[in-house]
Amino acid sequence: MIFYFSGSGNSEYVANTISEALGDKCIFIPDVLTSSDTYELSDGERLGFVFPIYAWGIPDFVADFISRLSIKGASYIYYVCTCGDDTGKTKEQVCNIAKSKGWNISLGYAVKMPNTYVCLPGFDVDDKNLEKRKLTNARVKLEEIILHLKNYDKNCFETLPGNFAWLKSAVIRPMFNKCLMTATPFHTTESCIHCGKCAKECPMQNIKLSEETSTPIWGDKCVGCLRCYHLCPTNSIQYGTFTKGKGQYCYKKQ
Ligand SMILES: Cc1cc2nc3c(=O)[nH]c(=O)nc-3n(C[C@H](O)[C@H](O)[C@H](O)COP(=O)(O)O)c2cc1C
Repeated sequence: MIFYFSGSGNSEYVANTISEALGDKCIFIPDVLTSSDTYELSDGERLGFVFPIYAWGIPDFVADFISRLSIKGASYIYYVCTCGDDTGKTKEQVCNIAKSKGWNISLGYAVKMPNTYVCLPGFDVDDKNLEKRKLTNARVKLEEIILHLKNYDKNCFETLPGNFAWLKSAVIRPMFNKCLMTATPFHTTESCIHCGKCAKECPMQNIKLSEETSTPIWGDKCVGCLRCYHLCPTNSIQYGTFTKGKGQYCYKKQ
């Protein structure tokens, strides 16, 4: 069983690829976020978590979901995260959550994929060459991960912590989450065609359309995935002033 989240499709691609290779069921976390079900795994079934890195860590709502998750029969547990560059202390964060549940993480991998974070100066999507290179390498990395999972390999980690991992995860991340994980700066420019795609695609169902003009209005359940920004057909959705002139990216089947 694989629980996953994805804003722009990178982590969805990873989750689906593993799911197809192992024959495991894939569950999109927002679909079961408020459920209090207990999931029962069959003999030998692996339990996996796949998610994007947000500010050198696991997205807060995914961490909360895992902490609350009720599972029976989990003997082999793993995670795969996707990132644009580096993951900071994500391994330690996930292992701590697991420890508090009496679990042991057997495999943890970070897969570098095209960057989706664009909301601060200096951050933009990757150029097409880098995007292509990352996707090619990700395919190879996934084959390696799947082989390890098929063998139930233990103590298998490749985590891409990057430089200053502690500083990023323990000091910058809390500030980032407090100040920059809010939907308040989202707005549309005059190029908005009022198509409603943003509202339809928001994984948290956090965007409503105004009755008069069908202009998007963001609510307070935003998790900062930027799916609305990246999927907008006219690049009309902006986050404050820092996304002006920046690119869009969504995973497309290769
Ligand atoms: C809010 C936010 C924060 C991010 N923070 C990081 C980060 O700290 N390190 C990194 O390498 N990539 C970061 N990224 C990039 C994503 O982790 C990466 O592009 C990921 O593959 C996106 O996955 P998705 O398409 O499944 O949403 C961030 C993206 C977003 C939207």
